[in-house]
Amino acid sequence: MRKKNYAQKNLRSVILNLHQYTAGKSIGEIAHKYKLHPSKILKLGSNENVLGSSLKAKIAATFALEKVNIYPEVVSTELSNKIKKLHRLKNVEVVVGNGMDQILEMLGRLFLNNGDETIISVPTFTPYELSTLWAGGKPRLIPLLKNTWQMNVEKILKTINKRTRIIYICSPNNPTGNLMNEEDIKKIVESTDKIVFLDEAYAEFAGKSYIKWVEKYPNLIIGRTFSKIYGLAGYRVGYAFINKALISYYLNSITPFVVSRPGQAAALAALDDKDFVSKTLKMNSEGKKFYYENLKAAGIKYLPTNANFITINTFPIKAKLIGTKLLEKGIITRECTSFGNGGEYFVRITIGTKEQNKRVLEALKSLSLRA
Ligand SMILES: Cc1ncc(COP(=O)(O)O)c(C=O)c1O
Repeated sequence: MRKKNYAQKNLRSVILNLHQYTAGKSIGEIAHKYKLHPSKILKLGSNENVLGSSLKAKIAATFALEKVNIYPEVVSTELSNKIKKLHRLKNVEVVVGNGMDQILEMLGRLFLNNGDETIISVPTFTPYELSTLWAGGKPRLIPLLKNTWQMNVEKILKTINKRTRIIYICSPNNPTGNLMNEEDIKKIVESTDKIVFLDEAYAEFAGKSYIKWVEKYPNLIIGRTFSKIYGLAGYRVGYAFINKALISYYLNSITPFVVSRPGQAAALAALDDKDFVSKTLKMNSEGKKFYYENLKAAGIKYLPTNANFITINTFPIKAKLIGTKLLEKGIITRECTSFGNGGEYFVRITIGTKEQNKRVLEALKSLSLRA
């Protein structure tokens, strides 16, 4: 007689020990749980674009529906070429994925054998760790330096060994919001022949990017996304700048058709809508100024940011508790416990419109968070 769950015996051991990715909460979930009307809920926990997305992108996606019975391009060549042209880089190729998340998975597929190591500075975006584990790799977590939240370069370089394959750098870092020091990034890229993956999901908000460096450092790969500044998170389009020498191996390893036809069309059109991007940047810098002034006046500790979110330091109160109290008021933020190393005192809030920011500020002030 076979046991009831005999199928589980086939799972890889690494999968048996995994935990599920903690995603930002949805409006439906919170409306149901706290008996609130969905229209009263602010969704500021996933750093989406609160202005929506470009009208041009929406129109292009709608037109693409006409051909939705036909498979999209296998590797989104038109979109890759357009991005490449915008940046005019030599010896650099652009690959497009189903969100940057899927590109992270590809890195595991391309570079990690069972037992190979990656180096991750924490707290940071958790999929680096997850995609390492999926591939059977071993993530080596190095704490970011307290207070500055910069990388511990010395420790990173000492941790590199013959099993190391990828070093992840997130700049601006999620959830601390800061840009990593230029000298530190340079030192890491120049000191090693391992892959350095630089995640620039929020670079447009910072106005600082190292894309040019991919030309001179063949081991550097830079990831970008349409989910933030372009407001296309629901379409799942990400991309990466990768050295020409790696491209054929990347293409030989891909899952075909990963970005839908409307998704590709929306991304292509979004690149042309400079007004939408400017509007987003303006709202974000005004929101940032509002938060800096008012949080300071209210005595609430925060981390200066170069991204489209601001992170509140809730110490000595646990962020989970603050996150829950905000949810009760219909405000979805992200408590960062799952990000590791200090994240248990961080509440990350997407910078929104003037009205949204005011509502968040009032809610925070009511929670006795004074430093
Ligand atoms: C640092 C960072 N990288 C990558 C992503 C994921 O991007 P995508 O939506 O393209 O998968 C996010 C999403 O929040 C992020 O914060």
